[in-house]
Amino acid sequence: MKSKVKFFSRRSFLKFGLGSLGAVIVPMVASSALGKVCDLQKTPTQTIGPFFPDDGDEIHVIRENLDPRLPIWGANDNDLTFIQKHSGIAKGQAVYIKGRVLAREKQDCIAVPGATIIMWNASASGRYNHKGDTENLSFIHPKTGQRVERAHDENFQYWGRNITDKNGNYRFKTIVPGYYPIDRRGKVFRPPHLHFLIMAPGRGQLITQLYFKGDAINDNKMIQKLNTEDFILRDDRLSKKEQESLVVEYKVNPSEEFKDGVVGEYDFVLP
Ligand SMILES: [Fe+2]
Repeated sequence: MKSKVKFFSRRSFLKFGLGSLGAVIVPMVASSALGKVCDLQKTPTQTIGPFFPDDGDEIHVIRENLDPRLPIWGANDNDLTFIQKHSGIAKGQAVYIKGRVLAREKQDCIAVPGATIIMWNASASGRYNHKGDTENLSFIHPKTGQRVERAHDENFQYWGRNITDKNGNYRFKTIVPGYYPIDRRGKVFRPPHLHFLIMAPGRGQLITQLYFKGDAINDNKMIQKLNTEDFILRDDRLSKKEQESLVVEYKVNPSEEFKDGVVGEYDFVLP
C-alpha cells in the first residue's frame, strides 16, 4: 500500500483565526526576501463557489488525519489521487500543480513559508463531494452526445491541504476535473478548474481558481473553448492579462518524480 507524507505536526504550531471557516493551525516561520525589485501582480481573485469542503457539507467523509481539532478541509494531505486504505486510484488524468506562495513587501518579492493552501476540485466526472452538488447529475456530453453520469469517485480525495516550506514552495497532485453543466438545460459548462484558499499569518487571505491549458492535457481543444466562454474566468472586472494569468500550462516533465503526471507551475501572490 502506498504511504502518504504527512504535513501536520503538533510541534511548533500556532493558531490563528479564519473568520467563519473556523480555526486553522499553521507553523510559525519567518518570511524571506527573494532579493529583487518585485514587479509581480497580485493573483486575481475568483469566487469561492458553493462547494468549499466545510464540516457537515461533505457526502463522504474523507479524513486522512484523524485529529479532531482539524476542520475537515485541513484533515487531508496534498495528494488527491488516492485515499489511504483504498486499493484503487482516482479516475482521470493525473496532474501536479506546484510553485511558490509570494507576497510583496515594499520593493521586494517575499517567499511566504508556513502558508496554508487548501485545494478542492471536482472528480473526473465533474462531481463535488458536497451535499449542495445536486443539479444536472447526468448530462449529454457536448462532444460525444453520450449521457454522462456525474458519479462520485470513491478513490478520489476531492480536497487537500499543503503548507509551504521554508522557501514558500507548495505542491499538489490531483486529476483534471470534468467539466460540468451549470444551467438547467445542461448546455453551459464550467471548464475544468482547481479551487484554492490560501492563508498566511499576518497576510491577506486569497481565494481563487486556476484553469488548464497545453497539449499535454487531454481534451485540451474543448477545454480551451470552455475557458474562452466561462463567465467566472472571464470576469470583466479582471483585465485580459489577469484572466489569462489564471490559465496554467501543463507540460510533461522528464524528472522521475513527475513520471506519473503532467506538471503545471503557478506562483500565488498574496494581496
Ligand atoms: Fe468549481
